[in-house]
Parts: sequence; structure tokens; C-alpha cells
Amino acid sequence: MNRQNALLAYDPQSIASLLGTLIIGRRIELHPQVGSTNDLAWQAGRHGEPEGLVVLAEEQVAGRGRLGRRWIAPAGCCILCSVLLRPRFSADHAFYLTMAASLAIYRACKELDEGTGAGDGKPAAAVTIKWPNDLLVNGRKVAGVLCESEFSGKEWAFSVVGFGINVNLPAEQLGDLRSTATSLSIEFGRPIDRARLLARVLAELESLYLLLQSGQFGPVFAGWAAAVSTVGKSVQVLEPSGTLEGQAVRVEQDGALVLRLSDGTERRVLAGEVLHSTELASTVE
Ligand code: BTN
Repeated sequence: MNRQNALLAYDPQSIASLLGTLIIGRRIELHPQVGSTNDLAWQAGRHGEPEGLVVLAEEQVAGRGRLGRRWIAPAGCCILCSVLLRPRFSADHAFYLTMAASLAIYRACKELDEGTGAGDGKPAAAVTIKWPNDLLVNGRKVAGVLCESEFSGKEWAFSVVGFGINVNLPAEQLGDLRSTATSLSIEFGRPIDRARLLARVLAELESLYLLLQSGQFGPVFAGWAAAVSTVGKSVQVLEPSGTLEGQAVRVEQDGALVLRLSDGTERRVLAGEVLHSTELASTVE
């Protein structure tokens, strides 16, 4: 951990003191090093832990991303977080949790932007969501979400909402990922207080979760859909079965991305890695 990140170190007490939530953050654990925070929250879920547990780590040695990928973040400068929740709404709506998580991170990052943009001569940063749940700032990824759920039949036992945010990660540590990934400190040109940022994300997540728990799915979908910058772009979607190319025309209530293909037909995509047209030139797959 470099000197600046040591100054921006966070601890459960400082995060709790900023929270003001009812459920999320009832208990906060911060570990120096773990395999994956999602695994620890999952084990707690299995052992009957009440919802609201927040598991944080300064470093993960087996961090997981979507689509079986690894999530790598240097120690001490990022947010690596998993939240245990016990949704009561239908498991058919599981995707709404992912929408809520990416929308919560989006809103917290937008607030940071408001402190950076107008007035100090710098243009405002473009904070958007790349379908389905990658947070982009100025077109590069700063955060990702991995929700994992335990069901028994149609019954939803619990969910772990995991997210990683590149907060105070210096450009040189991004290495080969620099063309597609970034950090908040790089984009906003200043160090970011992780405790404050995390508290904002968790507070937003709780208010969105409470909407879902009371059956109000519309506002969560509308907020997420308005933030998704994929719509209107030419995209490639890398699916397990192959690559699709088309124009992203809309997102639907179940989280699907609808593409218009070159033959004019529409295809719904429910999972996969999307590359925006702006990324295609700079990405070697
Ligand atoms: C992605 O964009 O692929 C999702 C990345 C999710 C990473 C976070 S970091 C905290 C939590 N623990 C994990 O092992 N993964 C998630």
C-alpha cells in the first residue's frame, strides 16, 4: 500500500458511522486478505447470518468476475465488497438485484463527478453503465458487479451482491488493461475517500433494495435503463455460442439487451460480454 492509500485506509467503524441504513451494514467485516469476499458472504448465508452483512477485503487472491473471469485488484486501493441479502420477491426477478447494484454504484460515482465538473475548468466525466452492469467512466471500466444466488427449488434462500470498484488505483498498475479499464482517482484527478464512497453505494443499494422488496420494480428498471449507454451503439456480443454483431436498440424489463442484426431481425441477449463500437478499435481479444 503506498503512502496516499495508507492515508485513505478505511475501517468498519468509519464506514458504519457514515451509513445511516437500516439493513445493509448491520455487521461489517474487513479482512486484510481473502480468497473472494463473495465466498465469505456465501458461507455466512449458508450458516443463517441475517441479511445486511457486508464483507470487505483489502485484497482478494481468488476474486471472481462475471463469465468465469478473474477479478484482479492491487491491495489497499480499491473497494472489494459483498453484501448478503435475503430477497422476498420472486426469483424470476433476480436480475433486478444486479440492476440495483450497478445503479447504486452509478449514482455514487455521479455524485463524485458533481464535485469535479463545472466550476473547476474540467469537463464533467461521463459516468455510464455498460450493459449489463459494468460501470464506465469516460468509456473505461471502473467497476463490475457479480450477484450470486442460492435457491432451493423456486424458493430464494439468499443472494450475495459482490462488487469491485477501482478507486485509487494508479494508471501504471493497470498495465495492459489501461485501454479498457481505469480508476476513479485517474478520471476525477484526485484521491477518493473509500469510506464515503462505499457508504453512498450501500445507502443507494439499500433504498433500491427496499423498493424491490415492496414490489416496486419499475423505478429500479427505469433508473438502470436510463444509465445504460449501450443502447444506440453498434456492439459485438461475445456469447458462449459465438459472436453477435448489431445495433443495440433497447433494454427490456427482464434485463435483456435487444440487438437489431444486419438482416433487420431483432435478437434478445440475456448474458454475454458486450463490446461497444468505441472499444472495438482498441481491444485485441
Ligand atoms: C465483473 O465485472 O466481472 C464483476 C466483478 C466483481 C468483482 C467483485 S470484487 C468483490 C466480489 N468478490 C469477488 O470475488 N467478486 C466480486
